[in-house]
Amino acid sequence: MLAAMSLERKVAQIIMPDIGSITAKDVKRYRFGTILNGGNSGPYGDDKAPAADWLKLADEYWVASTAPLPKGEPVIPAVWATDAVHGHANVIGATVFPHNIALGATGDADLIRRIGAATAVEIEVTGIDWTFAPTIAVARDDRWGRTYESYSEDPALVSRLGAAMVEGLQGRPGDPGFLGKGKVAATAKHFFGDGGTDQGVDQGDVDGDLDALMAIHAAPYPAAINAGVASVMASFNSINGVKMHGNAPLLTGELRGKLGFGGLVVGDWNGHGQVDGCTNKDCPQALMAGLDVYMVPEDWKALHRSLVKQVKNGTIPMSRLDEAVLRVLRLKQALGIFDGEVKPSARSLGGRWELLGSPEHRAIAREAVAKSQVILKNSGVLPLKAGARIEVAGLAADNIPQQAGGWSVTWQGGGELTAADFPGATSIWQGIAAAAKASGSEAVLAPEGGSAGSKPDVAIVVFGEEPYAEFVGDRKDLAFRDEEGLTLLKSYRARGIPTVAVFLSGRPLWMNREINAADAFVAAWLPGSEGAGVADVLFGARPATGRLSFSWPAHCEGTPVNGPEGALFAVGYGLDLGAAGGPGTLDETCNALTADHGAAWFASGRLGNTVQAVADNAVLPDLRGVGNGITATGIDRKAQEDARRIAFAPGAKLALTGPESSAGWRITYQVTERPKAAVTVSADGTAFDITQRLAVAAGKGWREMVLTSDCLGEVGDKLAFASKGKFTIEISEIARDERAAEAECSF
Ligand code: GLC
Repeated sequence: MLAAMSLERKVAQIIMPDIGSITAKDVKRYRFGTILNGGNSGPYGDDKAPAADWLKLADEYWVASTAPLPKGEPVIPAVWATDAVHGHANVIGATVFPHNIALGATGDADLIRRIGAATAVEIEVTGIDWTFAPTIAVARDDRWGRTYESYSEDPALVSRLGAAMVEGLQGRPGDPGFLGKGKVAATAKHFFGDGGTDQGVDQGDVDGDLDALMAIHAAPYPAAINAGVASVMASFNSINGVKMHGNAPLLTGELRGKLGFGGLVVGDWNGHGQVDGCTNKDCPQALMAGLDVYMVPEDWKALHRSLVKQVKNGTIPMSRLDEAVLRVLRLKQALGIFDGEVKPSARSLGGRWELLGSPEHRAIAREAVAKSQVILKNSGVLPLKAGARIEVAGLAADNIPQQAGGWSVTWQGGGELTAADFPGATSIWQGIAAAAKASGSEAVLAPEGGSAGSKPDVAIVVFGEEPYAEFVGDRKDLAFRDEEGLTLLKSYRARGIPTVAVFLSGRPLWMNREINAADAFVAAWLPGSEGAGVADVLFGARPATGRLSFSWPAHCEGTPVNGPEGALFAVGYGLDLGAAGGPGTLDETCNALTADHGAAWFASGRLGNTVQAVADNAVLPDLRGVGNGITATGIDRKAQEDARRIAFAPGAKLALTGPESSAGWRITYQVTERPKAAVTVSADGTAFDITQRLAVAAGKGWREMVLTSDCLGEVGDKLAFASKGKFTIEISEIARDERAAEAECSF
């Protein structure tokens, strides 16, 4: 096959564009070897496309890539890859399993194998053959936005569970069903060091003694390779300053030489573009370092051209190209893509919609949710008594997008998603209501906390992190600043009502205040679509077997904790249901929170104590009031009046002044109506027009604006918004963030 291929077609085999930037015509013309959908790409430009559209597009790519070629050149079907990282969660209606951090807390390899098998079936139903999972990162700094994609800080646990997931997805090497029906190619990612970057900065640098780093961060790869993993994804990070996508000693020397990996190495999203001397369009260095397939979402045409040129001029030896192409062909051969010439919808599982989100798969997910709940404290209030009157509070209680977390329907998850985007799913509240009914008690939902008159026997407060993915989830410390849950817990305690805190998060965080305020505290992680698994444990229908796979920090500053030193709870900790237990009263000192006055210009409904808001010369205390065309009113986002609605009359201007800093601003905002006239923001005077950005953001729920010197020029001690026309914006937080300082402005 290889011998009969033209140079152009060989190069096309190692190019992986994103479905959002190609048409079936491009597939027919170029004959890409593989195609991906990134977290934010859905069929025909629709993130929420029905499952049938995924299969329809897969068929179109099959037909386009198998159209006859001149001069008897072999036709080679394209293969589609997707991030089914906690179930096939890109697709509406799929089973959404708990994220890896929760699976780590189950410690149950057999369960994970079953999850992999169920996920592989749902992937094949939509005509896709390859998943970029499992992540076998060993996350060592919980400030990293991808901590929840890691099973554990313990390499041995990651090794065991990662191999189990590979086996579930692919089957066992040597078995007749290996990579066959209901099995897909898996990807061990990201090689290597993704969980070890300095301060947990995503895509950052990992520095230290190479052997010591390998002993932690490369440790899970031998087991994955032994399990026959079909591909490995190169990591964005650098090791001692050298980006992995251009690191031959590691990508070839270690991975192939030492660890004996014989499969395909796929790049990450334009990861090659970050290599010294490279751009997304031109990077022979990556291929020469050991990358076999370039994940080049948009610039595939230019990259194709530059690679062809570089083979012609000898920069890339034909032998290296052939080796990479052969790995792509072998992957396809192992998947049976060449057998039977059958388009995706005609394969045995293609279009078997009853398997997508099937009751059997959801039962596995519900089992995983229950097995992942970790009880950190229990004064005896758990298990909940039959017949108890239960009040369920918190905006997260009946919030399926929040319990699913990132990589769910959209890349970041959450945002404008609603329960309707997760058909067949069950919220934590719905699970509690059903369990209460079954045990002869009643439950009521009171997201803002019950009325003073209500007198439940127990209150369950569900709260936690909003969904995020990758660098968007990076934090500078581990202080959990959203006080909705804390306020609710305290208000119930003040009324003598025992409470159970159910905390949703992608990582351990500093929760001393909430743990003190609650009678029981459960780490629920990111359970996914089967929220009923939480109630299974709270009511004792299932035992509490979950145990921490990450150390839980005693302090909020964010210093990495990977052992007893600095830990409030160690790896392996977790209470059984019947056993009352947990820590005594915890120290609530957190310098990061008190230091916040420099960072938080507006948070929890208050301006920082050295921050002032003015409308021309009219001061607006606590960003409230009317003056010179500005009307600022308190609104509730997560707690009483913790946000503001700011209405601009034409020509009005709102200026904030605060502590001098070179840091950027992070602003949590939402815009319901697109601006009718120009809106600008300025720091040192040069106005930056954000009209169009706000128009795009309109109607898409709460979002984060990052403003830095990148678009504002100098940043200092003031920030001003001006609007030419009538305009309204809602704001819930304005914070300085030195980690954003270098970032591009985003909205
Ligand atoms: C992302 C992630 C990687 C994912 C890829 C495709 O940036 O780093 O884990 O597989 O791009 O979505």
